[in-house]
Amino acid sequence: MANLIHVIGIGPGNPDYITPLALELINNADILVGGERVLKPFTGLGKELFIIKNNLPEMVRFIKSRCEDCHVAVVASGDPGFYGILEYLRRYFAPPELAVEPGLSSIQMACARLGISWHDAVFCSIHGRDAAGLVELVRVNPKVIILTDPNMTPAALARELAEAGVSNKKMYVCENLSYDNETIGEFDIDNVPEDIGKSGCVIVILDKA
Ligand SMILES: C[S@@+](CC[C@H](N)C(=O)[O-])C[C@H]1O[C@@H](n2cnc3c(N)ncnc32)[C@H](O)[C@@H]1O
Repeated sequence: MANLIHVIGIGPGNPDYITPLALELINNADILVGGERVLKPFTGLGKELFIIKNNLPEMVRFIKSRCEDCHVAVVASGDPGFYGILEYLRRYFAPPELAVEPGLSSIQMACARLGISWHDAVFCSIHGRDAAGLVELVRVNPKVIILTDPNMTPAALARELAEAGVSNKKMYVCENLSYDNETIGEFDIDNVPEDIGKSGCVIVILDKA
């Protein structure tokens, strides 16, 4: 029988936010699977690595071929169940084959930094996804939290909002959360700089008070 495949959330990036249990599971694994940024803190552990980069079908074949004999850990940023790798893995592996270890999501971190709750927010991701419907989502909801990617920068989104007449909002751009170069910017919709959030960030959009 194959070993359990651990799917481990490591939080927003800074190793200080990895739980002791997640660290123990990573240390016990033979093979680590994950994106380059996520695996960076673990490259010195002497584990076999599989780097995820536009090769998800190959990742599934790799895991299936190795999980009989090895302990495979899929390491994910934030929480694996929040716009993460878990959704994809569930297409190929039944729940009893996966052991999910939660992590602190980037959206929790963003809300903590802003000192706001997140139970009443609407969430959306345009990380590798279509941004259709986003303008209307922001128009009708007082608190919207968005994961971005380089194809839709905060400035590009702000332009779309302004063109659609959605302007009575504040945009908070949370970059490099948990790292030494973390920044949190607060902007009016018509005043979002072009050069921020270009490599992915968390955007929080709130109704103006
Ligand atoms: C594939 S999604 C994964 C989200 C992750 N599962 C989570 O719970 O945070 C990647 C996106 O999460 C956001 N993200 C992840 N880590 C971040 C960080 N340290 N600072 C800002 N945004 C981050 C960015 O929007 C990035 O493009």
